[in-house]
Amino acid sequence: MGQVPITPRNIKFALGGEDKRNWFAGDPVRTAILDGASILFPYGEGKFIESVIHFRDRITDPRLLADINAFAAQEGVHSREHRRYNKAIEAFGGDIARLEKRLRDVVEKMERRGVSPEYKLALTCAFEHFTAMLAHELLADPHFLDGAEPEFARLWRWHAIEEAEHKAVAFDVWNQVGPKGLRGYLMRVRAMLRATRIFTSQTRFNTHVLLRERGQTNVLRNARRILHFAVIRPGLLRRSFGVYLSYFRPGFHPWQHDDRHLIEQHKNSYAAEPVIAAE
Ligand SMILES: [Fe+2]
Ligand SMILES: [Fe+2]
Repeated sequence: MGQVPITPRNIKFALGGEDKRNWFAGDPVRTAILDGASILFPYGEGKFIESVIHFRDRITDPRLLADINAFAAQEGVHSREHRRYNKAIEAFGGDIARLEKRLRDVVEKMERRGVSPEYKLALTCAFEHFTAMLAHELLADPHFLDGAEPEFARLWRWHAIEEAEHKAVAFDVWNQVGPKGLRGYLMRVRAMLRATRIFTSQTRFNTHVLLRERGQTNVLRNARRILHFAVIRPGLLRRSFGVYLSYFRPGFHPWQHDDRHLIEQHKNSYAAEPVIAAE
């Protein structure tokens, strides 16, 4: 169950303006990596909400019900703000709409083949593990956003805090409604492997395309610098790998990784403005 209050903060970020090109410390590669991830959020987070809300009627615990509403409210605002983010970065080059559509195509293809609501929830749990890992790294490393344009930094930190706050909601719903025993475990693992493939391949693809379409045409150099970001500095993949693997433990729960101190440390810089819970 949740370890911290889940507080939706309804904030609109001022991201527009061509002057914000290479907003991440003037570095086209780091900018494209985070922009490449942002492209996944408006559609992806909408699907997360859907998959959890689907089971709301089967939840009786009032605290988990409140968590579900707060989770949906947070993800709804994330989806909205990343839609605005993705609109703002159109000015920096790159066919953003086409990249957004790639994720939609993958999900729609999967849905046409037929997937159970339980499996969709398991996918959300897996993606939420990814967002929680990234959130942890972003909040734990005081230098992560060094040199970033302040409003972009503010958005990413806000998103990270809220991902940390609600990181266990989908998982707690899964524990109530998902298949039990070996069948449940195998579904959860299968979903994680698929989520890993989708998240890494889409982010990598988006980053490469954005770089190329923004004039960084040396593919090898781009690949080397993306790898540097992932493995050396800030070394997201290297630092998160152990936590990633912990998801495969049969008794895993998101709050076995305690981020409360990080949320405490950062949340006061954001005004809490509750928004209406999603239907
Ligand atoms: Fe989110
Ligand atoms: Fe989330």
